[in-house]
Amino acid sequence: MAGTSRQINSANAYIDAEFVMAPKDFAVEGRTIVVNPNLTPVTVGQEPVRHIPAFSSTVLVDTTIEQGDSVLLLRVLDEGNMADVVNQPGWSLFADLLPGFPRTTLLYRGPVERIGTVEFDPGLALGEEKPLGPRTFEISVNLWFAPAGTDCAIHNVHEFIEIHSQIHGYGRMQKFKERDHNTLYEDQLMSPGHTPPVPFCRTRPDGGFTYPWHQYRADTDCVWLAVEYHAV
Ligand SMILES: [Fe+2]
Repeated sequence: MAGTSRQINSANAYIDAEFVMAPKDFAVEGRTIVVNPNLTPVTVGQEPVRHIPAFSSTVLVDTTIEQGDSVLLLRVLDEGNMADVVNQPGWSLFADLLPGFPRTTLLYRGPVERIGTVEFDPGLALGEEKPLGPRTFEISVNLWFAPAGTDCAIHNVHEFIEIHSQIHGYGRMQKFKERDHNTLYEDQLMSPGHTPPVPFCRTRPDGGFTYPWHQYRADTDCVWLAVEYHAV
């Protein structure tokens, strides 16, 4: 068994969160959400050997990760009291972080951690028609919480590529034609261990990213992981 494993600052009494570099026959104990934040596949150590694709995740139970560039491992420790996660160190009501964000929207963000850099071609990574050449991205991760029934605000601006992995509860990643809930055109259901494998954005000629109007909606109390790729 090899790989450099460390807890990241998303970890707390409710959710364990670990970042493993270069896992090799790495033991996964108990029920664990395994996120592949790379463009390269992560393989699972069971026959027939199959992989966790890029920008994707699964739930593994008492098995091994055969190999990969890196993985994020998340384990729910206290399913019954998850709403208290927002009282853990480093958590904030999002309205306290972003001036003007509505205080009635009970969206909470956990501590942000930069976990390293990765090099990939954003054109290829986003499944576009042509490669754009390799670029280096800094990866940052954080958890979010919203109580049942929360619409977490429709937005369409990010200067990074983002993906989301469901950790606890049931929610949705939604796309809209306009900044209006009545214009929903795609509704991706999120259950624990799921990451929509196609990021929502496309590249722009100036190096930025174009997003549709989108939001997270919590059907039950929800925790999800955001993984962001910031060009450096
Ligand atoms: Fe977003």
